[in-house]
Amino acid sequence: MPPGLGSGQSTSRNGMATATNDIVYIRLMRGISMKRLIFGGLLIGILLASCAAPTAVQTPAAVSPSAIAVSTAADPSPSTPSVTVEERVELLLSFMTLDEKIGQMTQVEKNSIKAGDITTYFIGSILSGGGGSPYDNSPAGWAGMISAFQDEALATRLKIPIIYGVDAVHGHNNLHGATIFPQEIGLGAANDPDLMERIGRATAAEMLATGAVWNFAPVVAVPQDIRWGRTYEAYSESTDIVSLLSAAYIRGLQDLPEGYQPASGETIRVLATPKHFLGDGGTMLGTSRTYLIDQGDMRADEATVRALYLPPYQAAVDAGAMSVMVSFSSWNGVKMHAQKMWITDVLKGELGFRGFVVSDWGGIDQIHPGDYYKSVVAAINAGVDMNMVPYDYIRFIDAMKRAADNGDIPQSRIDDAVRRILTVKIMLGLFAHPYSDSSLLSAIRSSEHLALAREAVRKSLVLLTNDEGTLPLAKDVPLILVAGEGADDIGMQSGGWTMEWQGRLGNITTGTTILDGIQAAVSADTTVEYNRFGKFDERAQIGIVVVGEHPYAEGKGDSGDLELADSDIATITRMRAITDCLIVIILSGRPLVITEQLPLADVWVAAWLPGTEGGGIADVLFGDYPFTGKTPYTWPRNNAQLPMNINNSGGKTGCSAPLFPFGFGLKFGESSPEISNCS
Ligand code: BGC
Ligand code: BGC
Repeated sequence: MPPGLGSGQSTSRNGMATATNDIVYIRLMRGISMKRLIFGGLLIGILLASCAAPTAVQTPAAVSPSAIAVSTAADPSPSTPSVTVEERVELLLSFMTLDEKIGQMTQVEKNSIKAGDITTYFIGSILSGGGGSPYDNSPAGWAGMISAFQDEALATRLKIPIIYGVDAVHGHNNLHGATIFPQEIGLGAANDPDLMERIGRATAAEMLATGAVWNFAPVVAVPQDIRWGRTYEAYSESTDIVSLLSAAYIRGLQDLPEGYQPASGETIRVLATPKHFLGDGGTMLGTSRTYLIDQGDMRADEATVRALYLPPYQAAVDAGAMSVMVSFSSWNGVKMHAQKMWITDVLKGELGFRGFVVSDWGGIDQIHPGDYYKSVVAAINAGVDMNMVPYDYIRFIDAMKRAADNGDIPQSRIDDAVRRILTVKIMLGLFAHPYSDSSLLSAIRSSEHLALAREAVRKSLVLLTNDEGTLPLAKDVPLILVAGEGADDIGMQSGGWTMEWQGRLGNITTGTTILDGIQAAVSADTTVEYNRFGKFDERAQIGIVVVGEHPYAEGKGDSGDLELADSDIATITRMRAITDCLIVIILSGRPLVITEQLPLADVWVAAWLPGTEGGGIADVLFGDYPFTGKTPYTWPRNNAQLPMNINNSGGKTGCSAPLFPFGFGLKFGESSPEISNCS
């Protein structure tokens, strides 16, 4: 490190300055105009002329001009000379070597980065994959892990901080004890932009408390085939709902809170990432190299793609999105990671996206599976700015260097990518406060966040049938029998992307199960009994069964058979025999085929994947709050109808019509719909 630079420290997120012993920084703050510095040509001359105190004068050789840009960018005081973000980025870029630039374009999975390599290779970003938590999965464990990576980045010549990314897709869902909100599908049923904004804000606070500033969310796919295992990760099959809710959520994550004192140039709180660009919800069954639908081929003409899948990206860009993730899928046989027309011409050009494009997990490798060099060249030239490598970063760095030397990737393309990445780092205020904000620790699972999650659960519920006005239930019935494996399982009610990539059954994190919620809601004189299989010796007036899908995520969730499991049907049948009124609650990542079982119960409720605050379900069952949710996906009658959605089911009647149309949902007092018997 050159003498005089010291170990630049930083300010914390709440704007309180901590000690900075960066001598250059302090001297500069004594009044150098950065404008002059940049535009006046000779940096050194200005430096010498401006530093009045003789003791403060550095020998020119001892000062790294790029560090000045960093330090200035870090200045949180209102007296900072008015240097634009663009000017800072240009200055910084002008001092970067090719190796430093390539490092910024490299994102590595946290377990794959070797100690010291962030510094050696100037790595620009580290991520946690699905379930990628530190060994000590506590807020302190996360903050410690990310700080250690950050220390390595700040030990480089230019001290450019890393940006740490996570999939906080329904709350900070890899952190044990975080507030877990309903998955997107439930929020699509709620269709409440104000709620989305508040969830974004809450998620941002829990993330910042651990040092994660980049969220790979929201999914803005518009799934047209619910056999896709990622259906639940998206709000709706309706383009309009997706656009509306994702834009609100992005504002919630990104907008600085009221009263917040930003660092100079800071405008983003937590970086959102609308994904996966483009048309990931439109892939065709049977076209994927690896799965049934996921990562497959979207076969549609350009006009359809523009009408159905593109609008949420325009809405996201307008809401301030500054990073976008590319889809594993293809368009008419060509991998999206190589689609220059969509990434560069449409997203960055037409839509006016000024942020950076990140690949999906090893997504570049899939372009030409046998030829990594060719894949890298194709992706970067197509407009991918940062590669989520995620494992073998040396191989990526080597390929990039060769491509630059050979002229296969122009220097201008590399500069453009780095410029975009640095811009976002400044907009995040990362140079000023690269570490976690411990003042936000109390936000994690705060009563306010839990109340918000519970509100979201209530609003996400869709009442499908309610025979004879069975609901709302009285709180003082003497006995309620509860059954079904979903009634008492935090993992099942949370779904995939919860603590683990594919999710997991069981007591995986702190929360309130649906059974807990029922027990808390009833009167002191009411007995609530639970048996998973519905095996009880007595009869009861009220029975509640919670059944549905086990957790899954990408790929594994693809399925051509959406019928209820036999064991679930058996439980429902058993309960029917011993209860006067039977309520079935479905936990699932999409509508399931329930046509034949419908007559078995008086009430059917779609609860989707509500997350950790199961109390929201009892809130509505017992009538403290109304049902307001509407199904955000067309509900099929049988597997054979699939794919079925608002775009292909119009005009279908009788037995060809869906069981419940898109947007269906009863309120209290409304009667169950007539279901024609088609067998
Ligand atoms: C990671 C996920 C990633 C997936 C891709 C998993 O091991 O945890 O984050 O999306 O691999 O295949
Ligand atoms: C998924 C992305 C995710 C990434 C990192 C990929 O496999 O498709 O949605 O953000 O992994 O976990």
